[in-house]
Amino acid sequence: MGVSVEQCLAKIDRGDRLESAAEMSEEYRQSLIHLLTMQADSELAGGYGYVPWIMRAPGVEEKHVVAQIVKDEIRHATVMYGLLADLGVDVADHVRAHDSILAMRVDSHADLGTARITSDKRVNIFYYPIDTWADFVFFNFCMDRGAGHQLEDVRHGSYGPWTRAIEGIFKEEKFHIRHGEVWVARLVGDPATRDDAQRTFEKWYIRTMNIFGRPGSAKNVLYRRLRLKLRDNGEVRQAFADEVGGLCRAVGLSVPAWHPVWEELPEDAHIPG
Ligand SMILES: [Fe+2]
Ligand SMILES: [Fe+2]
Repeated sequence: MGVSVEQCLAKIDRGDRLESAAEMSEEYRQSLIHLLTMQADSELAGGYGYVPWIMRAPGVEEKHVVAQIVKDEIRHATVMYGLLADLGVDVADHVRAHDSILAMRVDSHADLGTARITSDKRVNIFYYPIDTWADFVFFNFCMDRGAGHQLEDVRHGSYGPWTRAIEGIFKEEKFHIRHGEVWVARLVGDPATRDDAQRTFEKWYIRTMNIFGRPGSAKNVLYRRLRLKLRDNGEVRQAFADEVGGLCRAVGLSVPAWHPVWEELPEDAHIPG
C-alpha cells in the first residue's frame, strides 16, 4: 500500500489532492493520522466538557443551544474518526481505550502551560474545565475561533476527504463562535458581570494563544511541505490575535499581554473546538 515519498510530493506539487491511502507515502499517512487524531480527540473531549451545561445554561433556549453544540461536536468527532478508519486506524479500539480519559478535566486553577497529560491526542486547552457560563461563552469566543483559523488551512489542504469534511464542520463552528460573541457583548455590557467577563476572557485568550505551536517548528515545515498546513504557526496565531483584538476594541475588553514560552510549546499544535 502507498507510494514513494517522491511520487507523493510530485502529486502534491502539481496541486492535486490525495483521495486515499493508496496515493500516500508512509510519511504523509502518519502525519495525516496524527493531525486527524488530534482533531478527533479534541472534538470528542470538547463535546464531553459541554454536557453539564445543558442542565446549567441560563434558560430553556440556551439549554437547547448547548445541546445543539454538544451534538455538533460529537458529529465532528464522528466525521473525524471516520476519516481515520478510512486510513486503516482501529478507531473502535482507540475510542474504547481513551473514552473515560477524554472526559477527564483538570482543576480550574491548574496551569498546564502547553503540556499534554494523558495518552489521547487532544489539544491541551481541552483539559481545562468549563466551570461557569462565562467559561462556556469565552471558550466559544476564543477557542472555537482559534480552531476556525487553523481549519482555514485544512480547507485548502492536500487531503481531499478532509477538505470536504471540514466545510460542514466550519459552518457549525461559526455558529458556536457567533454564540460566543452575542454572549460576550451581554456579559461585558452588564455592570454585574463585566469584571468577571474581563477575567474570564484573559484566561481563555492566553490558553488559546498557546495552542498554535512554535513559529518555524520542524513539524510545521513538514506539514507545509505536505500541504497538510499552509501557513506558519506564528502566522495563524497572529491572524487569530488580530481578529480578537478588533472585536475586543469594539466591545470594550482589554487584551492581556501574552508571553510565549517557546521551549514549552508543542511542535505541532493543531485544531478544534
Ligand atoms: Fe467542533
Ligand atoms: Fe465548537
